[in-house]
Amino acid sequence: MTELAGRTAFVTGGANGVGLGIARALLAEGCKVAIADVREDSIEAALKLLENQHVMGVKLDVSSREAYAEAADRVEAELGPVSLLFNNAGVNLFQTIDDSSYDDWDWLLGVNLHGVINGVTTFVPRMKAHGLGGHVCNTASMAAFLCNGAPGIYNTTKFAVRGLSESLRYSLAPHGIGVSMLCPGLVKTYIYASDAIRPDALKGTAKDVNTEFVSNLEKLHEAGMEPEVIAARTLEAIRQNRFYIFSHPEFRDELREVFDEVLDEFRDYPEDPGLADRLKIEAGRRASYKQAREVARALG
Ligand SMILES: NC(=O)c1ccc[n+]([C@@H]2O[C@H](COP(=O)([O-])OP(=O)(O)OC[C@H]3O[C@@H](n4cnc5c(N)ncnc54)[C@H](O)[C@@H]3O)[C@@H](O)[C@H]2O)c1
Repeated sequence: MTELAGRTAFVTGGANGVGLGIARALLAEGCKVAIADVREDSIEAALKLLENQHVMGVKLDVSSREAYAEAADRVEAELGPVSLLFNNAGVNLFQTIDDSSYDDWDWLLGVNLHGVINGVTTFVPRMKAHGLGGHVCNTASMAAFLCNGAPGIYNTTKFAVRGLSESLRYSLAPHGIGVSMLCPGLVKTYIYASDAIRPDALKGTAKDVNTEFVSNLEKLHEAGMEPEVIAARTLEAIRQNRFYIFSHPEFRDELREVFDEVLDEFRDYPEDPGLADRLKIEAGRRASYKQAREVARALG
């Protein structure tokens, strides 16, 4: 899909950071853009900043299925059928899994994973029905590949978005709809301030916010990549129908190191009785996976 101009895009988390950068880049390409965000004040500020008649704001908590469908109806009534979907809204919680509560899980899974599921479940049937092709871009992270003790729940959600995105890519290719997964490293955004938008209902078992830690995170994110740079790299990848969008080339060597460690874990065990039959089954599965990758790549 090379032509972006004239299409309608729906960008979640579009009022700040990466999403705002993508919204701005899409407008510059001649797209109509809906920025969907849970922060109303940020939406207003973003609309002022963008100053463009082809952008609209919509208040949305992506973890709500009902609200998502209503937002989609409003946007399509005003801007026309959505054929570019950016599931980008995300929050982070910088703590370990053994230190986390059910409220912590519900919040992060609700936004980072169910937000993407809701976006896909709301819009993909509409995109297929509209027959305009298009593209779904899910913002994951390098944390979809690289883990540490913290942030454990965040890692879990981003690994899940990776599986969802790759599988979706193969099922949507026959419909002329591409899928990409954006995997940034550090970006100059406000994700360190996620605590500010944690819903009251999920605060019961939350730990007190460590303001000193958050202030250190803010300094760290100051060194992040500018959202405009990521946005340009993202749109280029979408035009070329690339699945992995690795905006931060500095991660290449580390990823190779980690993948090599994974491969080194294979062992040459003696042949077990079921191997010959399994190999036939796996040969069929492997051929079909390879073909799915080829079909998806050919879409561009
Ligand atoms: N900042 C980084 O270093 C970094 C690195 C890798 C990946 N990412 C990913 O990039 C994406 C965008 O984050 P960002 O860094 O631009 O952060 P950000 O906080 O600057 O922007 C995220 C936006 O999402 C919105 N949002 C949060 N919860 C929401 C909800 N329930 N419903 C709707 N909107 C909601 C916020 O209000 C905010 O405007 C996230 O998915 C994040 O995980 C960020």
